[in-house]
Amino acid sequence: MSDLVQLTRDNGIAIITINNPPVNALSPGVPEGIAEAIEQIDHDDTVKAVVLIGGGRTFVAGADIKEFGKITSGKARGGLELPALLLRIEDCRRPVVMAIHGTALGGGLELAMAGHYRVAVPSAQVGQPEVKLGIIPGAGGTQRLPRLAGVAKAVEMCAEGNPILAPEALKSAIVDRLIEGDLLAGAVAFAHEVAGRPAPKTRERNDKLGTPEQNGPIFSTARETARKKQRNIIAPLAAIDAVEAATRLPFEEGCQMERRLFAECLFSDQSKALIHVFFGEREVAKIPDVPKETPLIPVKSVAIVGAGTMGGGIAMVFANAGFPVLLKEVDQPALDRGLATIRKNYASSVKRGRFTQQFVDERLSLIKPTLNYEGFAAVDMVVEAVFESMALKKQVFGEIVRVCRTGTILASNTSTLDIDEIASAASRPECVIGTHFFSPANVMRLLEIVRGKATSKEVISTCMQLAKKLGKVAVLVGNCVGFVGNRMFGPYRREAQFLVEEGASVEAVDKALYDFGMAMGPLATADLAGLDVSWRIRREYQHLQKPGVRRPLVEDRLCELGRFGQKTGAGWYKYDENRRAIPDPEVAELVRKWVAAASITQRQITAEEIVDRCICALVNEGARILEDGYALRAVDIDIIYLNGYGFPTYHGGPMWYADTVGLKKVYNRICEFHKQHGQIWEPAPLLRQLAEQGKTFAEFTRDQRATA
Ligand code: 3HC
Ligand code: NAI
Repeated sequence: MSDLVQLTRDNGIAIITINNPPVNALSPGVPEGIAEAIEQIDHDDTVKAVVLIGGGRTFVAGADIKEFGKITSGKARGGLELPALLLRIEDCRRPVVMAIHGTALGGGLELAMAGHYRVAVPSAQVGQPEVKLGIIPGAGGTQRLPRLAGVAKAVEMCAEGNPILAPEALKSAIVDRLIEGDLLAGAVAFAHEVAGRPAPKTRERNDKLGTPEQNGPIFSTARETARKKQRNIIAPLAAIDAVEAATRLPFEEGCQMERRLFAECLFSDQSKALIHVFFGEREVAKIPDVPKETPLIPVKSVAIVGAGTMGGGIAMVFANAGFPVLLKEVDQPALDRGLATIRKNYASSVKRGRFTQQFVDERLSLIKPTLNYEGFAAVDMVVEAVFESMALKKQVFGEIVRVCRTGTILASNTSTLDIDEIASAASRPECVIGTHFFSPANVMRLLEIVRGKATSKEVISTCMQLAKKLGKVAVLVGNCVGFVGNRMFGPYRREAQFLVEEGASVEAVDKALYDFGMAMGPLATADLAGLDVSWRIRREYQHLQKPGVRRPLVEDRLCELGRFGQKTGAGWYKYDENRRAIPDPEVAELVRKWVAAASITQRQITAEEIVDRCICALVNEGARILEDGYALRAVDIDIIYLNGYGFPTYHGGPMWYADTVGLKKVYNRICEFHKQHGQIWEPAPLLRQLAEQGKTFAEFTRDQRATA
């Protein structure tokens, strides 16, 4: 039998244990091992029942996702197909009890459902998360789940992909019993109870499949939700079709339909992109010169300096994760304002059902407001979130380094300023790091961690680990103006504005990029963030602007008119009392007037040109960042854009998208723009090189790793 699967016996109960760390994925060898064990059991009359359990920290977290790339590129080794194994288990002559701890996800839940019974510890989770990888369950999940849990629950789990906890799984009849205490002992006891009883096969249970009248509204509502919440993604709709097939077709035919839809999804660009994202989110945690074993600095309490938009949000992030937080402001009115915003945000979370009042009360009690540095000597980390001014930041760092213990992590939330210059104000620059949260900090998943010249590996490693505890995806970036995300966002926003100047309407620019998949168009995003924020930054960096280089002209003028966006009720759009954007003919008129005075000719612009201009601008700047080493890998840039800028997951991030389109094509388009619009479109040397070599950004990363 394969090393990955063991068969033992305990007083008439056969125990199959899967040992394929870390998550017992169904990699080649595992299905074969299980099948061999079942075969032996079926021929052994001393066995009365079977328990199948996962060794280590979990049951089975699904098919081995690494295998999917091999299948689509024709390099898979073959082996026992999962659906065939599941039929074999279901046909076993002894009752098979699946014992679940950790997670039973995807193929893991499909495996569990092929057993005759399921028991689980209360903390276990079960789910069909395949849609998050752009695929659907491919081993009967869409056919067996509705037979156990009913159509509505199955549709929800297969189309949305969120796992549920064991107590809910018990209510939904996915699990038959919860086991408190030792799982194996409980499962063996359960197996003795059911030994000798007829073993129910899930595939033969049709009583929960409903009638067309009952199911019709379930499917139509699910499709509507999927189109809205998972816009442009094909897998959720395919998952719903497959569950619908379970209600209309015999089990075998339903499975065939599921296999066909699974294959269509698996070979799609969307699935390749989403699988790239899955591995990318784990890859970004790996920093070549900061090994996993780097000692961590214990962080048990924090202080935040500044309770404005960001400071308040960051305080909530830490409090939500259970950290006591000292929150410092300059004066009582500012502190009161900050606390009032925090309370308002929590109240709205309670109203929306995200948090309970008790949870919120506990979090609020963790946040201790202060107007001085008392208590700072006891905290393990300080996050500075004062105004974006170098002089002020230096002053604050000079103060906190004096009041804090040696070894306290001193982090700045600056969005553009030089971390090394900030660190120069602290006598311990090795403790200084950038932790760039995104707004709203308590909602956005991205955390750019900015490495200064002197930042110690311990501080980097601790912040990366801490991010996970805070529920954030951390990406380590280098210290350049705007770091990675905002540096790329500059050219993207620049092009959006140029397109308006050249004749595209504000709505057309936003619609083209929204249809491409961005969460919001760039001009609506600017209105949300506040046009005054970037106006202030532009003035701060005025000295860096090269003479003779075209700059967008409209936003400055809108700001001069007091149109700062949503906060003033008008910006690129005007806003009603519900903050709904309404196209503003006055803006269109003003733009026409201003561009005519600047001798810019307007013309018809297609949606395709809008997308190409904006996305190519992102990619070109991304290539420079990658070449200069401000991002460790192309995937780091992708993860930043997916989690901080609303880039569509199913395109995999800007660099992956460029790889998918083909770098030669992207490079040629950028050369056209270079010819038409001049210097600002100069192609990044790395992009040119890769295009000429016929390579991708992903290959560039692989080549770099090989030579490191
Ligand atoms: N296949 C291959 N590798 C996997 C894997 C899988 N199904 N699940 C996790 N891994 C790897 C991760 O890449 C990571 O590798 P690394 O250490 O080299 O970076 C390692 O296992 C540990 O994973 P995490 O860091 O994510 O560990 P956590 O404890 O934070 O999370 C988890 C564990 C909740 C199981 C999470 O890994 C997860 O969600 N995994 C994916 C589950 C999933 O999507 N299953 C469905 C697969 S598709 C399928 O089953 C199709 C079927 O219908 C035929
Ligand atoms: P803000 O203006 O909302 O808040 C700044 C707060 O700092 C004010 O309440 C001010 O009273 C307080 N402050 C000033 N000096 C202080 C001192 N010495 N001690 C204690 N408090 C002091 O600013 P915002 O938007 O929260 O920005 C803070 C930082 O976060 C800036 O560096 C900004 O660039 C960065 N950032 C902002 C984002 C945004 O979208 N607003 C996004 C990401 C980063």
